[in-house]
Amino acid sequence: MSIKRPEHAGGLLTIDLGAICANWRLLRDRLGAVECAAVVKADAYGLGAARVAPELAAAGCRHFFVAHLDEAIALRPHLPTTTALYVLHGSPPGVEREFVAHDLIPVLNSLSQLEAWAALARSKDTRLPAILQVDTGMSRLGLSPEELASVVEDRRRLEGIELRYVMSHLACAEQQDHSLNTQQMASFQGARRVLPKAKASFANSSGIFLGPDYHFDLARPGAALYGVAPIAGAPNPMKPVVRLQGKVIQMRAIEAGTGVGYGVTWRAPSPRRIATVAVGYADGLLRSLSNRATAWFGDTPLPLIGIVSMDTISLDVSDLPADKLQPNS
Ligand SMILES: Cc1ncc(COP(=O)(O)O)c(C=O)c1O
Repeated sequence: MSIKRPEHAGGLLTIDLGAICANWRLLRDRLGAVECAAVVKADAYGLGAARVAPELAAAGCRHFFVAHLDEAIALRPHLPTTTALYVLHGSPPGVEREFVAHDLIPVLNSLSQLEAWAALARSKDTRLPAILQVDTGMSRLGLSPEELASVVEDRRRLEGIELRYVMSHLACAEQQDHSLNTQQMASFQGARRVLPKAKASFANSSGIFLGPDYHFDLARPGAALYGVAPIAGAPNPMKPVVRLQGKVIQMRAIEAGTGVGYGVTWRAPSPRRIATVAVGYADGLLRSLSNRATAWFGDTPLPLIGIVSMDTISLDVSDLPADKLQPNS
């Protein structure tokens, strides 16, 4: 929602760049000598890649990942030339030259991407950097074990390619005891055996917490940088990064049995005090949070009650002293 005067806005979203850098340092320290990249695709998970990535570069991050070529072209001018910027989806067919022009490194996910990148290198009589992705069990992107074997049998296919890393992506790393983690590891080790000289990159945020065996040479955290818990069901070691504050625009006291919001999906079990707050799904607050989310006033939890409206939510504030919240506070 575009509001010209911030003091009139119903909500204020604060993104703590310092907390993102602190999270990156926490992961880096956990990795020891292993390099810690930053995944800043999807506009740094919605938080603004042009602001986030330079802060991380200043904190010492040297490797950045986005998904699409156009994201990378937009981000490149915001990053020092000493940093590497990788494009996870690789090159769309026919535009490989743009990678060279913008100093970008593709992740090669298929034989056709590999062939096109190698052909460009040969046409320039040079070697061009790339990451080679292998699929180890997620069935999403990357060469199958058979395709990798065919590449290794015919080494000319790699001619012209400066292989920076062989990489794969974990599907279930946040569930530490998931059997796919060890299966993917075994498959990745197989890929490493046929490319023994290549450095390797395997771990996303949660993969870092699976332990040093999963770290290899370069880890690629995204979600944990932005405060998301890396281990399912365990305390979150990451700092919160995003804070949404909402303005109370009306207070009311309701009797037991009174309904709240569209569809009156919530009814007061006893006399309650409720606050109407001026943020809603038009501001990006998901409607699926209806009757499920909790807001906080200091240490006091305030349950979100009823359906999230377009530009308001209702909170049960009965646990707060009556004079704590006033409209427009
Ligand atoms: C290939 C790849 N590597 C790393 C990441 C970062 O993963 P996470 O956000 O779980 O740390 C992603 C995110 O989707 C990804 O697709």
